Amino acid sequence: MRLDKYVAQALQLSRSEARSKILRGGIWVNGQVCKKADTNVTDKDEITSGGESLSQTQFVYLMLYKPEGVVSASNDKRQVTVVDLVKSHFPRRNLFPAGRLDKTSTGFVLLTDDGAFAHQILAPRRHVPKTYQVELDTPATQQMVEAFEKGVTLADGQTMKPAQLVIQQDDPHQVEVVLHQGVYHQIKRMFGVLGAGVNRLHRTAIGPVELDTGLQPGEWRALTPQEVEQLRESCQM
Ligand code: URA
Repeated sequence: MRLDKYVAQALQLSRSEARSKILRGGIWVNGQVCKKADTNVTDKDEITSGGESLSQTQFVYLMLYKPEGVVSASNDKRQVTVVDLVKSHFPRRNLFPAGRLDKTSTGFVLLTDDGAFAHQILAPRRHVPKTYQVELDTPATQQMVEAFEKGVTLADGQTMKPAQLVIQQDDPHQVEVVLHQGVYHQIKRMFGVLGAGVNRLHRTAIGPVELDTGLQPGEWRALTPQEVEQLRESCQM
């Protein structure tokens, strides 16, 4: 990647702002000032500004608590999207959700501009498990647990991969579901063929990373480098 593009992305500057920073001698590559904006740099180069490394900020990874009524898309003409909730902070980033939640669902949505990373965590072969807290309109049963374990066949004939269903002891309307794939309306359709409706669906974790309990609906924070690493490890990237 060209140095001016790298600096623009890392520091959220326009290309011309990045170029003038480089020309003023504000950017160092591998320990030396570099004033050439068209220098090619790679992951192996150490790029610093004011003594701070820029390598960690090459991509953005955010944990968003999606509220109800917001759509999981980058942009939409009529509806508020998950990216709308953060974009004033990242005006020059092409953020998108790595995986979708229905408009009525709430919880953890991962936003990033790292396409390769998103592809890896969503790829069917190594799909990172996702955990949901679900409220049903009828009590869950042991038969449902077994059907989830075996793999539920949807109304259109597709058989889902085995999934885990845990019934909350003091209230069988409340269940935890772990999915290993992402099919449109999957949980609602799985319960639908078993005769139960979903009142509420909330994603609590993506792989080993749990939605921060300190976040309110609509709030977000950056994933820590450790959390990004845990997600990479959970799909053996
Ligand atoms: N399954 C659904 O039915 N909806 C979601 O939002 C996520 C999983």
